[in-house]
Amino acid sequence: MPAPEIALTERFQTAFAAAFGPEYAQADPIIRPSQFADFQCNAAMGLAKRLGRKPRDIAAEIVAAVDLADIAETPEIAGPGFLNIRLRTDWVAAQAAELTAPSAALGVPAPERAQTVVLDYSAPNVAKEMHVGHLRTTVVGDSIARTLEKLGHTVVRQNHIGDWGTPFGMLIEHLLEVGEDSAEAELLKTDPNAFYQAARAKFDAAEAAGAADDGSDFASRARARVATLQSGDAESLRIWTNLVELSKQYFHRIYDMLDVTLTDEHLAGESTYNDQLAAVCDDLEAAGIARISDGALCVFPAGFTGRDEQPLPLIIRKSDGGYGYATTDLAALRHRVRDLGADRIGYVVGSAQELHFTMVFTSAREAGWLPEQVEAEHVKIGSVLGEDGKILRTRSGSSLRLMALLEEAVAAARTVIDELRPDLPEAEREQIAHDIGIGGVKYADLSTAHDSDYTFDLDRMLALTGNTAPYLQYAVARIRSIGRKAAAQGVAAAPAPHVENDAERALALQLLEFGPTLVSVGAEFEPHRLCAYLFSLAQAFTSFYEASPILKEADEQVRAGRLALAELTERVLVEGLDALGVNAPQQM
Ligand code: ARG
Repeated sequence: MPAPEIALTERFQTAFAAAFGPEYAQADPIIRPSQFADFQCNAAMGLAKRLGRKPRDIAAEIVAAVDLADIAETPEIAGPGFLNIRLRTDWVAAQAAELTAPSAALGVPAPERAQTVVLDYSAPNVAKEMHVGHLRTTVVGDSIARTLEKLGHTVVRQNHIGDWGTPFGMLIEHLLEVGEDSAEAELLKTDPNAFYQAARAKFDAAEAAGAADDGSDFASRARARVATLQSGDAESLRIWTNLVELSKQYFHRIYDMLDVTLTDEHLAGESTYNDQLAAVCDDLEAAGIARISDGALCVFPAGFTGRDEQPLPLIIRKSDGGYGYATTDLAALRHRVRDLGADRIGYVVGSAQELHFTMVFTSAREAGWLPEQVEAEHVKIGSVLGEDGKILRTRSGSSLRLMALLEEAVAAARTVIDELRPDLPEAEREQIAHDIGIGGVKYADLSTAHDSDYTFDLDRMLALTGNTAPYLQYAVARIRSIGRKAAAQGVAAAPAPHVENDAERALALQLLEFGPTLVSVGAEFEPHRLCAYLFSLAQAFTSFYEASPILKEADEQVRAGRLALAELTERVLVEGLDALGVNAPQQM
């Protein structure tokens, strides 16, 4: 196991037990990378409290008891009792050497217990805009899925698309009016939102005009259609299927463009739970979890109160007998635990739905559908803002099409690569522009904490400097170009990296952090930590390359060892970018 934290942790725990008694064998040494040394151990303060003694005295006793001789120099005590640890360079070199072995998996450990993780992400709504908000739930969710798979877990992707509900009444009526083979219907494949808005406008105008006595107006027909559809009318279902089918084509065009791993087999839309909704209500009512309140069937999960301190209801069957979003989510949750065998469930959905999810989770726990050992988490997604600081929704009054936005990013990236590498063939520049443009957009999304808002700024996303995809992609391309030159000169990488000077050492230490970083990204569902890590890795590479020439190095062994260090960096960068779903071009 190459990660320094882990090796150090074991040594410190042995020392705690020896110095203070066996009950301290599990105490957390709190080892963190530090600006004052390679690592800092902050255990003395906590232990001092537990033992009722002075932190500096405890620190001194730890230093006396700990055996780090083969790993690090004797720790220095600083401030109130911090222990600064400088690793031995030969130990760092040996760990880095281990990392290059194919079996080392770049330091990513096998899981202690492989989990089945159900991941609910993307989830756009059929025949409605797939807006930038869905860009984020898609990109963040996909990165979490990729990361968990690299960590050895089984991921069950569930794309909970909004393919059911009252809007389908008006959508079906609109489709019938314009004609199923019309140009307007074709819009569903390219700009579903325009189709949705046209239907909505018709509905609103009809409502404003007032219902016709015979119910022949658009709004009355739309309402009647909802009822016919829900009663299982074959013709209504046929048109609904057609609507959903066309929308799916649109989603998949977006997913392809985004290099996202979602396919048709991951679709599990709201409609898939229709035949379970009545049973969900009956079961909850029979178990005494749900009761009728004002004609509606409600769960009142413990701990939720609204205004006037009244218990807050989660409505699962409206007074008109209709089911809603919460009913579907309860059915989905039960299915995920019972049939899909989830050990952990992640919902990558906008922050605005926080209350909904906490109420659904609490209700499911009370019903016994979500056992204690199964974690359910809402991965809250913040908003994408425009340059005016408002939620990015519209541009010049019309709706902002996601595809148009992505095309704009690729076009802007094309300008970047055309300037950088006019010598490359057209087809290659096109592919690179895709990788930079899409990678840039995705990375900007991923490098922000998922629950924070961020401003959509193409210039910044595509910048070659700073914490951006193009910066990392460029670092990879640069190493690959060194590799090509080396091959041309007949220089082969040494089996082990050369780790001696400060820059080599700093780079090697960064490389050893890949495994622990990926583990924490999977545990916390926080891809932005991986971005921050890859950025500092690329920076460490840049400093290394400035300080230590590779191919110009005269000493043959050092040259081959530095090449090995560069190649290991390339592998980690590419693997990390792959966990984010960002492609690394061969050249830039
Ligand atoms: N379709 C919903 C929306 O666009 C998101 C669904 C998220 N998943 C869930 N199980 N509720 O807001």
